[in-house]
Amino acid sequence: MAQIEFQNVSYRHEKKSILKDISMNVEPGDYISIMGPSGSGKSTFLKLCCHLISPTGGRILFNNEDLMRQDPIQIREKISYCFQTPVLFGETVRDNLSFVYSIRKRAADWKRVDFLFSRFNMSRDYLNHKIEGLSGGEKQRIALIRTLLFRPDVLLLDEVTSALDADNTLIVERAIEALNQEGITILWVTHNPEQGKKYAGKLLTIEDGQIKSLEKLR
Ligand SMILES: Nc1ncnc2c1ncn2[C@@H]1O[C@H](COP(=O)(O)OP(=O)(O)OP(=O)(O)O)[C@@H](O)[C@H]1O
Ligand SMILES: [Mg+2]
Repeated sequence: MAQIEFQNVSYRHEKKSILKDISMNVEPGDYISIMGPSGSGKSTFLKLCCHLISPTGGRILFNNEDLMRQDPIQIREKISYCFQTPVLFGETVRDNLSFVYSIRKRAADWKRVDFLFSRFNMSRDYLNHKIEGLSGGEKQRIALIRTLLFRPDVLLLDEVTSALDADNTLIVERAIEALNQEGITILWVTHNPEQGKKYAGKLLTIEDGQIKSLEKLR
């Protein structure tokens, strides 16, 4: 059974056709790289996958049920989306992480926080850092850690290493690969062809709002 199924999905905004007749399946545990020119519809595709926006045509199924009819709060927990431009809030890194627990009315799990900091090669001292002083690459990693405080079934990543140097990109790539090996489905938009092929099992190419190819890599 497919985990996410696109059935002839289209997305229009005003008169502009942004995605056209997309049909494809994401299987549980898939690791799919998504590539394509700027403006081709990749981020729009990810936003549809987590019901941040709704299709204007066709249907999207998640676990065989219409995604549009599922409880948005549960969808947020099962499908996590890490934005192309990370949005952090509050004053400190700690605020960003504790918020995720408080909105779920749960006690913060600082052991989990420590584990994720070490997985992304960041010192725990960052907890006290002010958001405004963080570099672009630090913001990206904090946003990733925040996304992963609760384990999703599906992780949607939108160019999350674009501000990272080679060493930290490798750390993030390995952390994501480990999550995939633990069973999390990964959909990762990247502009880097090497990154697109290094770990993924499938490569989805979107061009001009349409699927150009869905290649099996291994
Ligand atoms: N809310 C919106 N209003 C107007 N146009 C939009 C909206 N969302 C997306 N678009 C347009 O749809 C097209 C696809 O956008 P999208 O962000 O999905 O591209 P992308 O493939 O992620 O590009 P990039 O690689 O630059 O991030 C673009 O032309 C964009 O301007
Ligand atoms: Mg994009």
